[in-house]
Amino acid sequence: MKPSDAVSGAPASPLDIESVLEQLSLDEKVALLAGIDGWHTKAVPRLGVPSIRMSDGPNGVRGTRFFNGVPAACMPCETALGATFDQDLVRELGQLLGQECKAKGAHVLLGPTINIQRGPLGGRGFESFSEDPVLSGTLAARYCEGVQSEGILATPKHLVCNDQEHARVAVNAIVTERALREIYLLPFQLALGQSAVAPGCLMTSYNKLNGTHASEHPRLLQDIIRKEWGYEGLIVSDWFGTYSVSEAVNAGLDLEMPGMSGFRGPALIHAITSNKVKEFTVDERVRSVLKMVNATLASGIPEFAPENMRNTPETSALLRRAAAESVVLLKNDNNILPLNPAKRTLVLGPNANIATYCGGGSAALPAYYTTTPLQGIKCKSQSPDLVSFTQGAYGHKELPLLGEHLKTDDGKVGYTFRVYTESLEENPDRKHVDELHMTSSSAFLMDYMHPKVKGDTYYVTMDGTFVPTETALYDFGLTVAGTGLLYVDGQLIVDNKTKQRQGTSFFGIGTPEERGSISLTAGQSYKIHVDYGTAPTSNLKVKNVVSFGPGGLRLGGAKRIDPTEGAEEAVKLASDTTQFDQVVVCVGLNGDWESEGFDRPHMDLPAGSDDLVKKVLAARPDAVVVVQSGTPVTMSWAPQTKALVQAWYGGNEAGNGIADVLFGDVNPAAKLPLTFPTTLAQNPSYLNYRSEGGRVLYGEDVYVGYRYYDAVGAEPCFRFGHGLSYTSFASKDLSVSVSDGAVKSSSINVSVSVTNTGDRVGSEVLQVYVSPPSTSSVRRPPRELRAFHKVTSLQPGETRSVSLSPLSLALATSFWDENRDAWLSEEGEYTVHVVGTGSDNTVSQTFVVDKSRWWTGLHGKVNAAENGVNGHA
Ligand code: BGC
Repeated sequence: MKPSDAVSGAPASPLDIESVLEQLSLDEKVALLAGIDGWHTKAVPRLGVPSIRMSDGPNGVRGTRFFNGVPAACMPCETALGATFDQDLVRELGQLLGQECKAKGAHVLLGPTINIQRGPLGGRGFESFSEDPVLSGTLAARYCEGVQSEGILATPKHLVCNDQEHARVAVNAIVTERALREIYLLPFQLALGQSAVAPGCLMTSYNKLNGTHASEHPRLLQDIIRKEWGYEGLIVSDWFGTYSVSEAVNAGLDLEMPGMSGFRGPALIHAITSNKVKEFTVDERVRSVLKMVNATLASGIPEFAPENMRNTPETSALLRRAAAESVVLLKNDNNILPLNPAKRTLVLGPNANIATYCGGGSAALPAYYTTTPLQGIKCKSQSPDLVSFTQGAYGHKELPLLGEHLKTDDGKVGYTFRVYTESLEENPDRKHVDELHMTSSSAFLMDYMHPKVKGDTYYVTMDGTFVPTETALYDFGLTVAGTGLLYVDGQLIVDNKTKQRQGTSFFGIGTPEERGSISLTAGQSYKIHVDYGTAPTSNLKVKNVVSFGPGGLRLGGAKRIDPTEGAEEAVKLASDTTQFDQVVVCVGLNGDWESEGFDRPHMDLPAGSDDLVKKVLAARPDAVVVVQSGTPVTMSWAPQTKALVQAWYGGNEAGNGIADVLFGDVNPAAKLPLTFPTTLAQNPSYLNYRSEGGRVLYGEDVYVGYRYYDAVGAEPCFRFGHGLSYTSFASKDLSVSVSDGAVKSSSINVSVSVTNTGDRVGSEVLQVYVSPPSTSSVRRPPRELRAFHKVTSLQPGETRSVSLSPLSLALATSFWDENRDAWLSEEGEYTVHVVGTGSDNTVSQTFVVDKSRWWTGLHGKVNAAENGVNGHA
């Protein structure tokens, strides 16, 4: 059977690649090198070449629609997964993603994201695992194994140094070769070399690397990835991240996404005709595409499959486990936690009664369902009546989405979305060409399609009825990439059309939220109407930002609360010990603050949150503070807390996962995968974290994250690897031995025995660091994470001897020697530190490398799944 005839569940037979290549016309070859729309590659039915579907990625599978998409499983963001230090869990989640891909008919998943958080402000920091390349690359390998075990191809992204959003398509990242190899490329090297089978695809980044855009960088794509590392998979551009015809093809970029192609139609044929691109080079690129097609056959997914949901109890259980296992217990003085389910609990704060489940941008997706911390806490308490809530302050940047609080004319939750090809000015009697019932009032139109809508210029209305529950002043907000007017009962409340400001919404192309307010009466019905024109109707022109077609609109609204009054009310309740035995304060960021297209301007919590926390702590020092964010926030009040928890964006089960830890059903084991600085200025990228004059200097070199704090002896707010437990552990009997052999296949065997010295069952994460010899020929970070291992479910009093997976000697000892353009495992005495929970659970041991040896390529696979097969020669 030919691939294009495939039916669900029945893998088709592979293409004979050389025979297909011989039969393809030049036009067909060129067409195979670009997408046909947002998410599909080109099919050549006469030769049995099917169209392949790609989907974001990385924390869920959104399918083919940004606009009005089919709900999906949302797992915790990658920093949360980094915090688990749990390779088995990440592999399981990868497999779940593979299954979700099948439900969405996607052959290729666009994830994991494995860029590096140089500093705390990166808009997409939440999307990558860690500031540490070994934690990141090792988890990426497990993620890819899980995804690919279902026959789906994983796509580590973005190769390389897309570590900020500011001017992301134009910025030139200036990086030393040593930092590039040791910090930024290493996660990719590990993902490729340590997965059971190398990931099927790699995505290039938007930015330039040392003067050349990644998608047309021959040294990066050909010399390093293909020749040095032996990679045989597909290299795809980031969306709209192809910038040339000949250069990109010659440099090794196989596939341009999305379609319709700007570069790979007649322009590429012209370049071939004029011999700027050789036909055999095009054949190489086509070969990669056809190999990718063959590699997807095991999935059994037919072309253009319908998109479905697979919201099963097993999925929920796994997502809940993942959410809980990612929660980091930062402080727990006097054992305030776990909370007692029989006691009266006050829950307050901006993140308590809202599901902060996912960051923004291309990682965002509509989840099957969501859970809030308040819901989670109510479910845990012996009776929901024991739990009270007060808002205290808001934490949103944009007003909460209004769609779910509206009703259509026929009484359904949501609103009516109509599409027109003419503006109201052009034709006051215009008729809509499409009408949809929608609930989410955020509509990114990149992949909206209708046969009557041609091009990117068209018009949309939103209509619904709002019935307020309280008589109060209400704020309404309209954010657009385009132009928009918002009316309440015919009265213009927001004009985001005649005067517009440039903002960062919709991947950096839209306006900020423009707001208006109106007093409303409880129980009365108000007609909400939005009149919108797509991006081309706006005069705003943005530089250095990719435009994703027609733009989008977002409608928000909420009752206004006075922050001073909100905090006063919270303090009054929190300090009343006759009413409440325990208090939980939920603060943090959300997908409006952390999103693709822009970086955060500062590290602080939203206005009002710090004030709320400080006042509540002053009145109630035993209040438990829960922070949800994907990257670090300033916690000037941290010294005043007794119980403090970092909870990330936890996916569908975020609220339940938090409650599982707060009430002790899950004993926390997670550790910070990022350093939390005390102030922004303390972080090593502080002076070099934005595009200036078109470039960003990676001035901290290899001293990223904890490598810097360790080197200069600075104490951050919370260190990389920090995280407490409700029990305690002690490690002893560390044994370290080095196997003989060639440098790339030698290993270091590490074993240790771990005892649970407390009175609760708990899991212990062992972080294995290696310190360089004092005789090192170059300055090196004082210690670097080289392996990690989670010892699960140790009973109170139980001692377990643990043999860690052998460490690669090459990886554990080498730095990049710029003189020889190779890794150097240098002779000398190294020290292994096995670091557990708490300040005193560290054991150390030295070992000696007696000969300096250089190496290149991928080092030996020492950490892969059993029976794994290396996809490389
Ligand atoms: C992001 C990629 C993503 C792609 C498709 C780009 O803006 O950088 O990570 O996979 O869009 O949504």
